[in-house]
Amino acid sequence: MSQQVWDELYSEVGTKLTPSPIRELVKYMKKPGMISLAGGNPDPEIFPMREFQESAAIITERGKEILQYGATGGFDPLKEYIAKWMAARMGRITAPAEMCITTGSQQVMDLFAAVMLDPGDVVIVEEPTYPGATHALKNRKARFVTVPCDAEGMRVDLLPDILEQARQGRDRIKFIYSIVNFQNPSGYTLSAPRRKKLLEISENFGVPIFEDDPYGHLRYDGDHEPTIFSMDKSGLVIYACSFSKILAPGTRVAWVVGQEDVINKMIMIKQGADLCTSVLAQGLVYEYCRLGYLESFLPKIQAHYKKKRDAMDAAFREFLPSNTRYETPAGGFFYWLTLPGVNTRDLFFKAIERNVSFVTGDAFFPNGGGEEDLRACFSYARAEEFPEAAKRLALAISDLSS
Ligand SMILES: Cc1ncc(COP(=O)(O)O)c(C=O)c1O
Repeated sequence: MSQQVWDELYSEVGTKLTPSPIRELVKYMKKPGMISLAGGNPDPEIFPMREFQESAAIITERGKEILQYGATGGFDPLKEYIAKWMAARMGRITAPAEMCITTGSQQVMDLFAAVMLDPGDVVIVEEPTYPGATHALKNRKARFVTVPCDAEGMRVDLLPDILEQARQGRDRIKFIYSIVNFQNPSGYTLSAPRRKKLLEISENFGVPIFEDDPYGHLRYDGDHEPTIFSMDKSGLVIYACSFSKILAPGTRVAWVVGQEDVINKMIMIKQGADLCTSVLAQGLVYEYCRLGYLESFLPKIQAHYKKKRDAMDAAFREFLPSNTRYETPAGGFFYWLTLPGVNTRDLFFKAIERNVSFVTGDAFFPNGGGEEDLRACFSYARAEEFPEAAKRLALAISDLSS
């Protein structure tokens, strides 16, 4: 009886909710002996627990402030720290009114979507893209137009035609979503010329860019590409970053920077969402940064993940079939494998039998596709396990064809 009442009352979004494809696969992964290349979690072995404990001294020193409700836009000392620390990346010290601290950068998607989207509006996304983003945008009834990627990131050369076509179909295109560095899931980085081109297109078409950059600090080879935000003169870029991958995702502390008016609107939406991001968490993160630990931790985790990346590269090179296609990512957490002629959904179940898991490519294609692709993550499992993981994956591939 009560179910019927609920079913009649759910909103359209509530009625159509489906579990995320990744969560659906998770239930198969909980077997003893499983090597997981699936979840994109940071490595808990290097969480800076002692330093965080030390940072908790801020509770004694500033408890009256950080155990209280805080400003919706964020804890001022943390905002100030981020603005200075990020100045080289942002091209300048951004003003406090241009920044909002958020509860994870996941919340940025939701806030930005609330500010920007009416039901049926279109967002341009990369193909493949991060399903957490499309999930948040779908919650606001967005539709997606996708742009394929190659090793240099989004194929911006295709974008003008795609935008033109969408316009002619009377789609209301609200923004372009790009994960610019070591993309989740592909590991690709948008090259500097493409960043420039993307900005030009954004200006020509009057379509803003959402530059999502949670992995940008995790570069293992080469030099940083300039952020699109730092090249932008017209205020059409909003930039999101997070402490999740460079410190600990349990902090749920992230931030967004952009034009004051947009940020202000996001703050107003956030007031109705959670009043403010945990001030306690912001205080701890601030103190950790103030003590200089973030700056010393970054080279440590870069070296740590570089080793894991190299171990995965060596294992894949040694054990995977020679027609497997992938690029070695210059940073981040992910390898994107293309296995010609292999359906990775079918492969997934064979791989589970062999005790290795990954995420199937289709999870990253909001409009369908990715059947021959998969994402393998090197951040979480132990590097010593990668040769065995690659061997199992290769065996699962041959199981499929036998
Ligand atoms: C591309 C991308 N954006 C945003 C997020 C959300 O991160 P958080 O909410 O922990 O900051 C993730 C998490 O994996 C991600 O991969």
